[in-house]
Amino acid sequence: MRAFANDTHVALARGKFTLMTKAIRIDEFGGPEVLRFRKVEIGAPGPGQVRVAHTAIGLNMIDVYFRNGLYPIGLPSGLGSEAAGVVVATGEGVDGIEVGQRVAYASPAPLDGYSEERLIDARLLLVLPDGIGNEAAAAMMLKGLTSWYLLTRSYRVEAGDWIVLYAAAGGVGLIASQWASGLGARVIGIVSTEEKRALALDKGCEHVLLASDDVVGRVRELTEGKGVAAVYDSVGRDTFYQSLDCLRRHGVMVSFGNASGAVEPFAPLELTKRGSLYVTRPTLWDFVGERPDLERGSAALFDAVSSGRIHIDIRQRYPLAEAATAQVDLQSRATVGSTVLLP
Ligand SMILES: NC(=O)c1ccc[n+]([C@@H]2O[C@H](COP(=O)([O-])OP(=O)(O)OC[C@H]3O[C@@H](n4cnc5c(N)ncnc54)[C@H](OP(=O)(O)O)[C@@H]3O)[C@@H](O)[C@H]2O)c1
Repeated sequence: MRAFANDTHVALARGKFTLMTKAIRIDEFGGPEVLRFRKVEIGAPGPGQVRVAHTAIGLNMIDVYFRNGLYPIGLPSGLGSEAAGVVVATGEGVDGIEVGQRVAYASPAPLDGYSEERLIDARLLLVLPDGIGNEAAAAMMLKGLTSWYLLTRSYRVEAGDWIVLYAAAGGVGLIASQWASGLGARVIGIVSTEEKRALALDKGCEHVLLASDDVVGRVRELTEGKGVAAVYDSVGRDTFYQSLDCLRRHGVMVSFGNASGAVEPFAPLELTKRGSLYVTRPTLWDFVGERPDLERGSAALFDAVSSGRIHIDIRQRYPLAEAATAQVDLQSRATVGSTVLLP
């Protein structure tokens, strides 16, 4: 094992291969009160592993789904699927990752992003280019890779396509709206407030509707009665049928989130009635689970951000210890753009 011998990691340099760090843990599913910030021990990186000292951590709705048990996980558990940091030690057989390098990741398991330091499989890490800052990296890996696969794989957006994008001023939303407009799509965003509307209009949406509007009527009006090629719906239960009603014949419903709760089971005949529609319910890990896909998506994302085509808009910062407050704000629709937790 190679280690980075600075003040913080003096224990490693002395050959003591365990270190106390602080991390959020949950012992039960529930509300934000189940988050506990406590000391935990981490060992030396095993074969293929890297120890990362986080510089910034991304906040995501998926953290809430894990916390409240919508997505079941073994307990006790950490939380957090997206972060940036510096490599402080590498295990045997790690190639292409060096101590001292800046790295970032979006990873499904184990959930340990909400921590000062963690061990992680080296194959999940991307080395950051100089032009991408730590906070931007922490805020964009999961949300940016999601935007990439939604727009290039779930439904491949073509120039001139009309699309609907929910939560257009949110973390994924602000990235996806910029990305989609860069591909030539005509983006109709949906948001809940005038402040969010202004932001989404500034970041790639051609039109932005309020969730309280007659969404189907306005979408039909804007598309001269035809409907849109794809709906990217992260709201879930409350908007599922409204979204189907916005689609053109053969349109694609991409149901990718549960902000209002999980979509109820539905009858396929509903797709026939509305023009032989397609429905997909994707998850990021099926699009970046293989290293070549992760590298392809990350290269596209790093290029889009480094070139300035996509700006990562971080509007909220919280100390890691206050992750529960950050989750309350995310769940109550009080956040805009991306949010980071700072260790
Ligand atoms: N399947 C995947 O691979 C994948 C990957 C990443 C994220 N996601 C999904 O993408 C969505 C966005 O994630 P994010 O982390 O970037 O969050 P976010 O968009 O920053 O925050 C969630 C937003 O959802 C909107 N919303 C609508 N109805 C809501 C409700 N009943 N309760 C709470 N929020 C509601 C709110 O925007 P308004 O106030 O403007 O309505 C809110 O700001 C989430 O649903 C997440 O699960 C899916």
